[in-house]
Amino acid sequence: MTLSQDYEHWIRTSFVEMNTALEEMYFSREARENVEGVGDDIKNQMRAEGHGFICKLLDEGNTDEGFENAFDLLGDVGLYMASMRRHEVTNPAREDVSPLQEASALAMHISSFLGVVPRFATAHLTTRNRAVDGKIKSFTTLPDEYLFLDYNLRSIFAFKRAAELLSRILPLGVTHPAAAILFDDAADALRDVIESNDLLFKKLDRDRFFYCVRPYYKPYRVARQEYRGANGGDFSGINEIDLLLGLCSANDPYYSQLLVEKMLFMEPRDQISLRESMRQRSFLLQFLDAAPVNKNDAAFRKNVESYLTVCKLHGVTARQHHDKLVKDFIEKPSAALTPEKYAQVTASGPPLEVLMSALEVLRDMRVAADRKDIRTAHDDFQRLRALTGV
Ligand code: HEM
Repeated sequence: MTLSQDYEHWIRTSFVEMNTALEEMYFSREARENVEGVGDDIKNQMRAEGHGFICKLLDEGNTDEGFENAFDLLGDVGLYMASMRRHEVTNPAREDVSPLQEASALAMHISSFLGVVPRFATAHLTTRNRAVDGKIKSFTTLPDEYLFLDYNLRSIFAFKRAAELLSRILPLGVTHPAAAILFDDAADALRDVIESNDLLFKKLDRDRFFYCVRPYYKPYRVARQEYRGANGGDFSGINEIDLLLGLCSANDPYYSQLLVEKMLFMEPRDQISLRESMRQRSFLLQFLDAAPVNKNDAAFRKNVESYLTVCKLHGVTARQHHDKLVKDFIEKPSAALTPEKYAQVTASGPPLEVLMSALEVLRDMRVAADRKDIRTAHDDFQRLRALTGV
């Protein structure tokens, strides 16, 4: 076994067992959010064992064993750092620099040649999470963590499928008689997102998620720099859909800032396809350009109808995420926390109210809400409907 394989074996076995044992201890307490001083023996063991592997890996210096291995190793270092943060062994609010110096050095070394952030990202636990004999990598063996990862991955697959189908319309153009086939298939993919999110909403236990899963997604420092937590949406597909449909625009200062911030949290091939979508003329603008000449053509009208259905379904996924998943699994349980814990709830760092209104802006862009304070597609949709009568 190579050193990185040894380390990965530890991550898949002892590390997961220790995290699970700690979660059970915290969860059985009355104040579940107070984890300081609980299970210190296990925390010290985890810190020391992880440190031992990381020091050897850093000495070896041979992290470039191909993209797959380097990306996996970065994830494994990140899972360790995120756990140390979760168990309050580290906390960016009380430190200027991460006490995990060797782990920081290793993470930065690998990330600099991969072109991604030096922390664990969603892809490590979803799209790039290799199963060994059917068992995926995770922080714990809690059923609610598996459930979250499983349904997150299903939604990601379906969003990616929708994005890929929409991108196939680009070389054809929106007046092509076959464009509706691709719009309709993309609509089906978005229906799969809706179904998967619905099931997640129904099956996930709110307290288990809030107290035992979500805390692993907090921000932490790598050396001096604090990095926001991973979130389920750190893949390009959803933004490609936003941009291609014309619901959001890469030259909108609010939205482009979000893209820039998110870019390095994505795996490199997602970064490439997102950049590609950023330089395309959206379907909305293409339809508006073509409508005066084509408005009476039956195939064109069918394309408009199918396009508007895709937009509507994308809006439904945004409502579902904000009004159900975020509200029920984060906003509601946060209300029970003390002010100090409340301030550290979000994965991205800003206070919850700020995060909620930022997510609301995104939702309203995606549903093309009638808002005058932000740019949405609302008026352009009305214009398209008026021009075509669809
Ligand atoms: C229990 C389930 C979920 C909860 C509680 C949740 C919560 C959140 C929160 C709070 C954020 C803001 C990030 C932050 O804290 O900094 C976020 C972002 C995001 N999440 Fe989720 N999420 C869930 C599941 C999902 C799923 C299944 C997807 C679909 C793949 C998803 C996609 C996204 C996206 C794309 C973003 C980035 C913001 C955006 O573009 O809308 N989330 N989520």
